[in-house]
Amino acid sequence: MGPYEAGRQVEEVQRAYGLTEVVKLGSNENPLGPSPAAQDAIRREITRLNIFPTGGLELRRVLARQFDTKVENVIAGSGSEGIMSNIMRTFLCDDDEVLTTEGAFIGFQVLARSRGVAYRTVPLDRWHYDLPALAREITERTKIIYLANPNNPTGTIFTRQEFDAFYAAVPERVLVILDEAYFEYAQDNPRYPDSMHYRYDNVITLRTFSKVYGLAGARIGYGFAHQDLIANLLKVKLPFEPASLAEAAGIAALGDRSFLHASLEINARGMAQVTAALTATGVECVPSDANFVMTVWPTLEEAAGVVEALLRQGVIVRPLGAWGLPRCVRITIGSEAQNRKCIDAMQAAMQQPMAAGAYHASNT
Ligand SMILES: Cc1ncc(COP(=O)(O)O)c(C=O)c1O
Repeated sequence: MGPYEAGRQVEEVQRAYGLTEVVKLGSNENPLGPSPAAQDAIRREITRLNIFPTGGLELRRVLARQFDTKVENVIAGSGSEGIMSNIMRTFLCDDDEVLTTEGAFIGFQVLARSRGVAYRTVPLDRWHYDLPALAREITERTKIIYLANPNNPTGTIFTRQEFDAFYAAVPERVLVILDEAYFEYAQDNPRYPDSMHYRYDNVITLRTFSKVYGLAGARIGYGFAHQDLIANLLKVKLPFEPASLAEAAGIAALGDRSFLHASLEINARGMAQVTAALTATGVECVPSDANFVMTVWPTLEEAAGVVEALLRQGVIVRPLGAWGLPRCVRITIGSEAQNRKCIDAMQAAMQQPMAAGAYHASNT
């Protein structure tokens, strides 16, 4: 393993390429900034930083009310990754294996591989989870199956029917992590199954404030599961996680409905703007239900070339080699102006044949 490499930062690209204006569309961050209500809550809470946090109890209570469940069914943590890490520590023994798709969310890959257990995958099926193949791959050693819906980085979803057919093959002793970091963006799609509407005892749903509420830097996420699962996670979790500023921000963000709607609206408009323009330019875009779109290139050289050409024009996007998808590049949906800059840069890049070959997008 190597250390996780975060996406490139604006200042670093400004320095490296001698640019003043750089837009970052590499890490699925919210173009509106953080929820204003969350910012106010952090300012209020800051005077109490001398006091230890309560382990997320208040946020768990608020989430239980909002999602009509019991506090015993809710956990909060330092981002959904913090909860994922806790799940690994709580439930995985050395001989266990985890099972997921190729190109799974890199945070999960890092956590599972660093735990040292067997990490098994099945190929994607036309950029979707191949749930029937995953079901066939379950063995006696399988302890955790990880599914993200919508999936990062492909942006694709699976339906309730597809999940149920898969779930029928999952033994009770296997824990299914259902990562719904992007559920807010997908929930208006009638094909999208919000897992709060179908609860199973061995499924844990994970969600985050990092995306639609713009709180990625605060590190705050939450999860829903059977109370026995939550009780075990509470035994193992860091006692004072999440941090009090993060918890206060999360509680305030949940009440900030106008910010939520603004985030969804800017994303829906931006998704239409970006995918229409890129498709017209000949770039293959995988239809997405999240706040990013994955583009597919005929060769890894072309994918790398386009990333570099965009960087030179001040646009940071995400090459997906580290995910195991070297021909793919993920573009976060930004503000209208950021999207425009990205589209212009892509159109310019596609007109400039580079040494390794022209930027021909694949339509296969
Ligand atoms: C699928 C998925 N899960 C989890 C996360 C991380 O969420 P958090 O910031 O709450 O740890 C991300 C962020 O990129 C993600 O894409």
